[in-house]
Amino acid sequence: MCLSIPDKLLEKYSSASMYLDELKILGCTLLHGIDVKDMHEDSFLKAQRFDRIIFNFPHAGHYVGLHEHDDELILMHQKLLCDFFSSARCLLSENGEIHVSHKDGHPFYKWGIRDSAKERGLILKEMVEFQKEDYPGYENKRGGDIMSNLTFPLGNMSFTFKFSLSKHLEDN
Ligand SMILES: C[S@@+](CC[C@H](N)C(=O)[O-])C[C@H]1O[C@@H](n2cnc3c(N)ncnc32)[C@H](O)[C@@H]1O
Repeated sequence: MCLSIPDKLLEKYSSASMYLDELKILGCTLLHGIDVKDMHEDSFLKAQRFDRIIFNFPHAGHYVGLHEHDDELILMHQKLLCDFFSSARCLLSENGEIHVSHKDGHPFYKWGIRDSAKERGLILKEMVEFQKEDYPGYENKRGGDIMSNLTFPLGNMSFTFKFSLSKHLEDN
């Protein structure tokens, strides 16, 4: 599932075609043009419930003149996370989990991933160090519209946050 339509995806990522073919051979359902902020309203997705919803390194995009430590960009990242959690929780099975891989160092901790999930009725079950080796063939990419195909340093503060539905919203 991804935001970009196929033509745009092929334009942005040099190996996209190879990976799309491989996913098709594996029998995966590929959905394009899906915005994580309102994916629960998609006609196909809303009829499903998922055991795992995974978003590796969400990022609201790169903009000329805006840097990662700028409040304006941090607010955009916060909104992306909030809206993603609100939408993803609607699609989770009862014991499902939302996994978000994210850098937790400066300035990324300012995105407030834990509070954002908590406010949307999700509890942090576990937080584990992100290991790229767990995803054979995966290369993290910048995405967005500027130099999308480039990778970015993961550093030593990248974690996978695992959230599940809180049974009692009032306990959060
Ligand atoms: C830093 S890239 C990470 C890409 C990839 N998940 C990875 O781990 O290499 C951030 C990704 O978030 C996606 N993204 C940002 N806003 C989105 C939205 N509203 N809906 C769906 N995807 C979004 C971008 O398309 C981009 O691919």
